[in-house]
Order: sequence, then structure tokens, then C-alpha cells
Amino acid sequence: MEVLPLGSAGEIAVLAADTVEAVVRRKPAAVLGLATGSTPLPAYRELTRRHQAGAGPSYAGVTCFNLDEYVGLATAGERYEALIAAAGGVDVQLLGIGADGHLAFNEPGSSLAGRTRIKTLTAQTRADNARFFGSPREVPAHVLTQGLGTILAARHLLLIATGAGKADAVAACVEGPGR
Ligand code: F6R
Repeated sequence: MEVLPLGSAGEIAVLAADTVEAVVRRKPAAVLGLATGSTPLPAYRELTRRHQAGAGPSYAGVTCFNLDEYVGLATAGERYEALIAAAGGVDVQLLGIGADGHLAFNEPGSSLAGRTRIKTLTAQTRADNARFFGSPREVPAHVLTQGLGTILAARHLLLIATGAGKADAVAACVEGPGR
């Protein structure tokens, strides 16, 4: 594991964009695993900016799999694992992290072997994500998420975290629970 503390969300966006572009340049039919949430947005904007400026690689042959989705907005999840396998597996998986340490929508304590399945969000995560909805009550209680076993099968993981609110989760992630 390589830990890179950077000074700003902009620097993280450049690093994440460089990482994704390097994979796509090396493998034009790359399979990308993409996180939703707010953390990766600057990275996606940087990738879009480079592409529109003609500086990025072609994404014509690229396949993308999203990390998770709210139930009710997603296509059926059972096909997901099969589709990932049929695509040859994920080359680079971009990840955010929740303030409580959740990865995708696997809350702390989730099995490392878990596969894509429906999970119930904690009250904390629903409150954290209310900003993407009109009100906390509108945040779906159930989500479809890749499991930690699915995520760990990607060939390259890039977890990005910004802001003081993520510091405890990142420290526990890097230093372990006994710090
Ligand atoms: C998103 C995802 C979630 C988010 C996490 C942090 O696909 O899997 O685990 O990464 O909730 O969200 P933000 O980035 O909005 O702070």
C-alpha cells in the first residue's frame, strides 16, 4: 500500500486523473471501477477537461462499472458480478471512503469476502448523504453495493479522501485500530 498525503483536492484530482489515464493508455480496452459521492468529482472534472482539450486518451474502448447504487435507481445487481467477470475484471478501481470508514456501501465489519449485494445504510451514512437528496428522508434505506471481495479483486485500487472529516477514517485505515 502506498499512502500519498497531498496538499489539496486539486492535486488529488491530478494524481487520480494521471492514474486513470496511465491505465487507459497502457490498455485502451481497460475496465474502470468508478466511485460515486463527492470526493471523486474533481478527478472526473479533470479527466473531462483533459479529454475535451484533446489531451487525454480515447475512452471509446473503455468499460466502466460503478461501485454502488441506491436500490430503486439501479439495474438488477445479480448480473453485475457476471458482467465484471465477462469484462475481464476491473483494471483500476477508484474509491472514496465514508466518515465512518465505509468503502462503497460496505459499513465497518463487512466481510472481506462479500460480493455485490443489497445492504441497509446506517443512519449516519444516510445523514451524510442527505446532501445529494432533497432531505434526509429521501435517502433510500437500501443500496446495491459491490462487496469488499469484489473490490479486492480489482488489479489496482486508488482510494482518495479529502477534508478533515475523513482524517479519522483514513488514520484507522492506514494505522489500524490500535493507534
Ligand atoms: C461512492 C461510495 C461511497 C463514498 C463515501 C464517501 O461510490 O462508494 O463509499 O465514497 O460515502 O462519499 P463522499 O465522497 O461524497 O464523501
